Amino acid sequence: MSKTTDNLQAAFAGESQANRKYLAFAKKADQEGYPQIAKLFRTAAAAETVHAHNHFNALGGVKSTTENLKAAIEGENYEVVSMYPSMIADAEAEGEKKANNSLRWAFEVEKVHEALYRYALEHMDPNTPVVDFYVCPICGYTHQGKFEGKGPVCNTPAEKFVKVE
Ligand SMILES: [Fe+2]
Ligand SMILES: [Fe+2]
Repeated sequence: MSKTTDNLQAAFAGESQANRKYLAFAKKADQEGYPQIAKLFRTAAAAETVHAHNHFNALGGVKSTTENLKAAIEGENYEVVSMYPSMIADAEAEGEKKANNSLRWAFEVEKVHEALYRYALEHMDPNTPVVDFYVCPICGYTHQGKFEGKGPVCNTPAEKFVKVE
């Protein structure tokens, strides 16, 4: 791998993290009553997304939708089969309750993502009717279509779920 490829990968990871970090900071600034600072954080976050996408494109990371679905399945599968189980075991061994919870929620939801991606890959058709997805704001549980009751991972009521535009 060339030095430039390494650099782009590091920059892509860094800019991606900066985006999520700034969005978390914006939420806090809003809660603390600083709407202008919240807006600044959200603005920089939007710019970091542009940078991250530029770096990812320069890496050739975006291919056809078929290839992209396969890459997404591979990533989710790695998280479910290998990454999260070993991280959860470490958190358990170290008695890190907060981390354990956070990792477990992600582990449960990545299983759903893998299944949704696999289904999408097997049913690729431009005429597929568009159905809304809903995301739990607490654990990230992802549901296709409207539903009633509570989310299965963290028990958040369905009406609190966020519809993806
Ligand atoms: Fe996922
Ligand atoms: Fe949830």
